[in-house]
Amino acid sequence: MRHWRDSVRYFGLWRAVRELAAASWRISLELLPSRRKARFGDLDYDWEHEVDTTRSNVSFRAQLLAELAGRPYFASDPWLFEQIMHALPIHFEDFTFVDLGSGKGRALLMAARYGFKRIIGVEFMPEWHRAAQENIRKFAAANPSAPAMESVCMDARDFDFPAEPLVVYLFNPFPEPVFVAVMERLRQSALTAPRPLFLAYRYTEFESLLEKCGWLKKVAGTEQWAVYGNWRDSAGGEEIHHGDTEKKRVRRWAMAPR
Ligand SMILES: C[S@@+](CC[C@H](N)C(=O)[O-])C[C@H]1O[C@@H](n2cnc3c(N)ncnc32)[C@H](O)[C@@H]1O
Repeated sequence: MRHWRDSVRYFGLWRAVRELAAASWRISLELLPSRRKARFGDLDYDWEHEVDTTRSNVSFRAQLLAELAGRPYFASDPWLFEQIMHALPIHFEDFTFVDLGSGKGRALLMAARYGFKRIIGVEFMPEWHRAAQENIRKFAAANPSAPAMESVCMDARDFDFPAEPLVVYLFNPFPEPVFVAVMERLRQSALTAPRPLFLAYRYTEFESLLEKCGWLKKVAGTEQWAVYGNWRDSAGGEEIHHGDTEKKRVRRWAMAPR
């Protein structure tokens, strides 16, 4: 209901109805035999790591609910995740990783390998949140030195961003009205507690909104992902740009005592 109300407010009634129809159509395609087979394409990660992050075993009902209120579940591709992590101009141990729309937690597990200070997933579907908790439990048991990790079950629109340097990861989690609301919440958080924030955006459907937003600058990207950051260096107040010099500058700041 909340998504529907926000959608009508954001798009107007007719466009909101069209968006709902498009979502229903997209999810009905999932029933096609060819799509069903494709679901098993993401199993390699789970076999390798003995976890359950695949979408092959999620119920149609859960996917339908998620699609109608947000976006359905797809787990991140490890190779693209790796590219995105390498593009971040940071020292990982200074940053907290937040995955908004974390599903069964694959991105959380992958982020743990990079040595973030701590890792938080935000997922509003209870059954995927529970799967993420179980995956985290297994991962932590097998990797005692892993950073603190948690999955919280809530709507990302209500999430209070921790007042720490953050990498916020988004893999196609929201329709436009929710994306805009969450980005505004992040902007407010940056104003209240100024600190470096990087947005790691996989599946760049709403990148034009980021380009226009004015407080984030693009750091790196391909057709499949983009990294944006808010950081202005402490000395000259310059904005960051993609490039080695700036990369080092942000690193130096990230290393500085706070
Ligand atoms: C494409 S999946 C991404 C899963 C995970 N981040 C990954 O990369 O493996 C998008 C997820 O966002 C969740 N989602 C959609 N809207 C949400 C909201 N408003 N609050 C929290 N989670 C949401 C969906 O339930 C789904 O699990």
